Amino acid sequence: MNLIYGMKQELLEAAIQIAEMGGQHTLKYFKKDIEIINKADDSPVTVADRETEQILRNEISKRYPDHGILGEEFGQTNEGSSIQWVLDPIDGTKSFIHGVPFYTTLIGILVDNTPIVGIIYAPALDELCAAAIGMGATLNGEPCFVRNTEHLKDATLLATEIYRFEDEVRQEAFEALLDKTKIHRTWGDAYGHMMVATGRADVMYDPILNIWDAAALLPVVQEAGGIFCDEKGKETIHTGNGISTNKALFPAIKNIFKNT
Ligand code: IPD
Ligand code: CA
Ligand code: CA
Repeated sequence: MNLIYGMKQELLEAAIQIAEMGGQHTLKYFKKDIEIINKADDSPVTVADRETEQILRNEISKRYPDHGILGEEFGQTNEGSSIQWVLDPIDGTKSFIHGVPFYTTLIGILVDNTPIVGIIYAPALDELCAAAIGMGATLNGEPCFVRNTEHLKDATLLATEIYRFEDEVRQEAFEALLDKTKIHRTWGDAYGHMMVATGRADVMYDPILNIWDAAALLPVVQEAGGIFCDEKGKETIHTGNGISTNKALFPAIKNIFKNT
């Protein structure tokens, strides 16, 4: 299914508005004393995650009753639709529950499984990145771009946390990435990818990504002139991990991960 320009523009604008609605709702609970529930995978979830996803879902269904929705907290509706909204109401719940503002509300729109629109909204920082394939990326409405660091020795590397891999090859690759880069920070989750897409860092690595973590990232990073890929260097959201970087650094990064 090929989306005409006007339809893509409309979906981009709708996704921005809906992300803003959801993201604003998270602020009601940010830095407040709320219950933290442990999910089956031992990751935390709160009333803020759940209510926010409901707000996003209600608004999407109201505007586009035939479109599909896949959300982290409440699963899939309209699975057969060629247009799917992929939602992570709070990406970075671990930041959120510690009162750290580096969490985001994520919306990705897939057409026939290919990401075409991405929104990364950090409500506590008032930063919203939006992109549609072929239409550029913006930060708060202004065009944004990756920066053009050419060598890993000058690069700032971000990661969600300090990883300890059971797989030796992945451990070696991560350590090589640490060895070859200059500055390391854990300003991670989707916010780390947004840092790359807005020219504030050079590489963001995340070894564990579900589709709702990744769907918004690819359009934003790609349209900012960068590359969002998996450890194999494939530009996809479907393989469970993700790296954002610029085109100059991409070959060196691909080389580091070549045996994983
Ligand atoms: C997490 C983030 C993180 C990734 C984890 C996810 P959450 O999302 O996307 O970057 O490494 O696998 O669970 O749980 O805060 O929405
Ligand atoms: Ca997430
Ligand atoms: Ca989440």
